[in-house]
Amino acid sequence: MTALEATVGIIYLVAATTFVLGLHLMRSPATARRGNLLSASGMATAILATVALVAFDDSFHVTAWGWVALVGGTALGGVAGAVSARRVKMTAMPQLVSLFNAVGGGAAAIIAFPELMHRFEELDLLGGAYTNIATSVLIFVGLDLLIGSITFSGSLIAAGKLQGWISGAPITFLGSRVLTLVAAATGVGSVIWLIAAPGMLPLIVLTIAALAFGIFMVLPIGGADMPVVVSLLNAFTGLAVAMSGFVVGSDILIVAGGLVGASGTILTKLMADAMNRSVLSIMVGGFGTGDAPAGAAVASGGEVTRTDADDVALRLAYASKVIIVPGYGLAAAQAQREAGELGKALTERGITVFYAIHPVAGRMPGHMNVLLAEADVPYPQLLEMDDVNPEFSTCDVALVVGANDVTNPAARRAGNAISGMPILDVDKARSIVVIKRSMGHGYAGLDNELYTDPKTGMLFADAKKGLGQILAALKEYAA
Ligand code: TAP
Repeated sequence: MTALEATVGIIYLVAATTFVLGLHLMRSPATARRGNLLSASGMATAILATVALVAFDDSFHVTAWGWVALVGGTALGGVAGAVSARRVKMTAMPQLVSLFNAVGGGAAAIIAFPELMHRFEELDLLGGAYTNIATSVLIFVGLDLLIGSITFSGSLIAAGKLQGWISGAPITFLGSRVLTLVAAATGVGSVIWLIAAPGMLPLIVLTIAALAFGIFMVLPIGGADMPVVVSLLNAFTGLAVAMSGFVVGSDILIVAGGLVGASGTILTKLMADAMNRSVLSIMVGGFGTGDAPAGAAVASGGEVTRTDADDVALRLAYASKVIIVPGYGLAAAQAQREAGELGKALTERGITVFYAIHPVAGRMPGHMNVLLAEADVPYPQLLEMDDVNPEFSTCDVALVVGANDVTNPAARRAGNAISGMPILDVDKARSIVVIKRSMGHGYAGLDNELYTDPKTGMLFADAKKGLGQILAALKEYAA
């Protein structure tokens, strides 16, 4: 091993450590930015070290065009990634993540091709048979191509659905499930074929089957389930990258891919659990696809009590503890600033304020944490479900802003679409205010009996507007 190789190896080790430490820091919103920055710096250093190795190590023979592609590709990808991440709206984050997954999975899959071509070429020159290629290499090439290609096409479809370019409704057609099964079986079969009889044909069939499977797998999934699918595809990206690391013998790719694969898998499982669903049931469609039976959770008919901003401001002004419950509607209305300002105004009046964060409030993991952090809400005020639930019974006002399913007491009963889903215990609060535009359903399509609870006042308004009116009324009391 040359001195340069040893140095680069040490840099890779340091970079891998920053990935682990970065992930650890991402456990809390207070340290997440630092964690992100640390891991990104580690990755940038690893990329620079790789470029230096390619430039100065004699075993690499990069042509002038190779350098143009290397430097040009890095610059183009870096600028495109930075600009899109800076410009993206919070609500469009899932489709951006999905596009990044597609690029990651596609890049990992592409790595397998030249590596195998190179080995074929070497064996042709030496007059050897392709069967001389080590089985372990063929396994990793096959799995890299399979997972990477599925991730690429599946993530593009997911991004298209989230962006509205493809219908968010489940897309099925006659024989679509059979086609999915055929594509899956052909993909897996081609990996075995490639190992048994290495050659171009199994490579091509494998790639086409995997791309087709990615499309058929994601098309029938409803738009609202897409975040779970995006998270799963993110885990696939990590696995594909790890496989490509085995293919080219790169430790850093194996470590980075393994971390993304493991954390993505855990996140997918957590999200599915928080929605009280299995990952498998999401993949085969159903709830969240728009065909959930509307109004099935509760025999509705209770009285709805309307309220207005002045009344809500009065209730809040005389409270000693207030819990704000943000949901998808807050994100859709981009009302995080107003929610943050209201919390600040109440805190300044000596009122204890918490924000209750349900794991699947919104439409993507960590949605509420990110939005409220953006609005400068102090981190200690953000309480996760398990920590905030015991607080509701001693809270004077629970202010629900655009949240529905995550507050629906029907989840505690059997026999409906959200049965068993862990919820925020808003109904235990002494008084409840709900800001939403109508009696319309949430994602699960169910009536919410919280809205007809005698303790509840409904403020029918857009979240941003409603919170703004309450803030204005509160300021009048203070004046
Ligand atoms: P939902 O149950 O979807 O309810 C959101 C409510 O917001 C709606 O009832 C809607 O009522 C209201 N709303 C919409 N736009 C609004 C606006 N501009 N101003 C005020 N209100 C507005 O949301 P949730 O309680 O946050 O629950 C999330 C749901 O999404 C769960 O069922 C969860 O399983 C699912 N889900 C979450 C994730 C992740 S990772 N977070 C992933 C997949 C699925 P109006 O139309 O009457 O205003």
